[in-house]
Amino acid sequence: MNIILLGPPGAGKGTQARRLVEEKGFVQLSTGDMLRAAKTSGTEMGKKVADVMARGELVTDDIVIGLIAEQLDGEAGKQGLIFDGFPRTLKQADALEALLAEKGQTLEAVVEMQVDEDALVDRITGRFTCAKCGEVYHDTTKPTQKPGVCDVCGSTEFVRRADDNAESVRVRLSAYNRQTAPLIGYYYAKGKLRTVDGLGEIDQVAKDIEAGLGL
Ligand code: AP5
Ligand code: ZN
Repeated sequence: MNIILLGPPGAGKGTQARRLVEEKGFVQLSTGDMLRAAKTSGTEMGKKVADVMARGELVTDDIVIGLIAEQLDGEAGKQGLIFDGFPRTLKQADALEALLAEKGQTLEAVVEMQVDEDALVDRITGRFTCAKCGEVYHDTTKPTQKPGVCDVCGSTEFVRRADDNAESVRVRLSAYNRQTAPLIGYYYAKGKLRTVDGLGEIDQVAKDIEAGLGL
């Protein structure tokens, strides 16, 4: 089963994708993670996108579609996939459909996670991530159990994202409303949309997503 997690920045897409990977054996394809990895490893593409990402604007369709196409050509393309943060424009949505069709695959469902804007800003400005394993935490809603030590891998190094500041968050929210929100109607019209209240506790949201997908 291939699914999309759709929602504004901070809605909890990454958090829920990781749970579905651990508990249900999905493979997560996050274009945000791929772009950050390209930036960290200093590739030409990584250098090109760094400023755009830090400002909170969308990277060009061609770059992200290329990243997803590469993944679908590789091993990842053979499993149940979660698209996290992709597609974000109608052009990306059309490209995904074509890429999956080339592999004889389909998209089963699109889970839209709804969270209001005040909560999104709180979530994003409180987020930190383990530098070693990528586990995502939050200062108040999901702190580490032992202060300063990752629950998953024991690392003591954490990072905060360059685009997790109030100014970039405003740009990211407006990019979502203008360029990505039209996908809600697009997938509704195809009968694939499942809407979940993303404001509840992490466990409750996970249960609602599983129920929506019939897992
Ligand atoms: P990307 O990395 O995709 O970021 P995003 O969409 O802005 O989403 P986030 O990662 O901020 O949020 P999330 O929904 O995953 O929330 P999380 O689970 O971490 O994209 C970054 C940039 O890359 C873009 O701005 C763009 O420049 C570029 N880009 C990426 N894909 C692109 C594409 N397809 N096209 C063009 N450009 C692209 O949760 C947030 C926080 O809340 C965490 O601290 C978490 O612990 C906490 N939390 C989660 N769930 C709950 C809950 N239920 N209750 C309380 N707290 C919670
Ligand atoms: Zn860790």
